[in-house]
Amino acid sequence: MLPPILANLRIPVIGSPMFIVSGPELVIAQCKAGIVGSFPALNAREKDGEPPLLEAWLTRISEELDRHNQANPDRPAAPFAVNQIVHRSNARLERDIEICHRHKVPIWITSLGARPEVNAAAHDCGGIVLHDIINNVFAKKAIDKGADGLIAVAAGAGGHAGPQSPFALIQEIRDWFDGPLLLSGAISTGRAVLAAQVMGADLAYIGSPFIATNEANAQPEYKRMIVESGAMDIVTSSLFTGVSGNYLAPSIRNAGLDPDNLEKADPSSMDFHGAKPKAWSQIWGCGQGIGAVHEIAPAQALIDRLADEYAQAKQAVAAL
Ligand SMILES: Cc1cc2nc3c(=O)[nH]c(=O)nc-3n(C[C@H](O)[C@H](O)[C@H](O)COP(=O)(O)O)c2cc1C
Repeated sequence: MLPPILANLRIPVIGSPMFIVSGPELVIAQCKAGIVGSFPALNAREKDGEPPLLEAWLTRISEELDRHNQANPDRPAAPFAVNQIVHRSNARLERDIEICHRHKVPIWITSLGARPEVNAAAHDCGGIVLHDIINNVFAKKAIDKGADGLIAVAAGAGGHAGPQSPFALIQEIRDWFDGPLLLSGAISTGRAVLAAQVMGADLAYIGSPFIATNEANAQPEYKRMIVESGAMDIVTSSLFTGVSGNYLAPSIRNAGLDPDNLEKADPSSMDFHGAKPKAWSQIWGCGQGIGAVHEIAPAQALIDRLADEYAQAKQAVAAL
């Protein structure tokens, strides 16, 4: 059974958090269009001496969604989620947890480390925790430490993808876990959302297609590159953050490197969003599913397309 907060979405989709790319504009548009919108807490970066920007973003998102709900009681907004990078390179974690707890963030997405105290803070304010993992061992650890649900990040996902086939990953997790399970990686059509459910997931977790939306905080060239590229243009490399991730080959070429001959990184230099911002601002993260993205459009238009395709796919499958 899905927790009520995930059970009544227009379509079973979470717009995944993306470093630099996801901010309040995108999250608000996603939630108003009926899917969960999310952003990494680390995207809210104030200048030295200024009050925490995360505080202002959470206030803005809650107020705008409240206003939407009052004006549209027949189609209320979906809830939003905040992503916490639970890794030693995140010096802000404690502060950000306190802010999210105070703002009663309804859905917490944790990445790169499962910590009971983060889960406890989320539960204490009435929230649920979804933890992202790339294999079954990490999945078990996350549930042992108190996460409520899992995000299975399979091969082909944007950002720090896993190496495993979605079929293998979902099958191993569903063998022992009947709680909320999301599938991440190269899902870009309504048909693929339904396929994730058929495979055993409850919801799809979609990132890269949202880079090519008006509300995404991405350079116009990045958005155009998403529209113009396909799976063949995605390169897997550990060079940029110390951990394997998927990137757009043309952006690697534009930075003066050869995407076909990249060195391997030293994992001890792992520092996700701190020392090497160029990994995300010049070398552009992206998953393999973008062949389905043909235009830069408002997030609402992308979600409407997914919803139409999802309904058609259900009919087609029922007729089989
Ligand atoms: C540019 C980019 C940045 C990302 N940054 C984060 C992040 O900060 N935290 C996180 O948990 N996942 C991050 N991800 C991974 C996504 O949340 C998600 O797993 C992935 O985008 C899903 O695969 P897809 O892009 O093929 O849809 C990022 C992905 C991309 C493409």
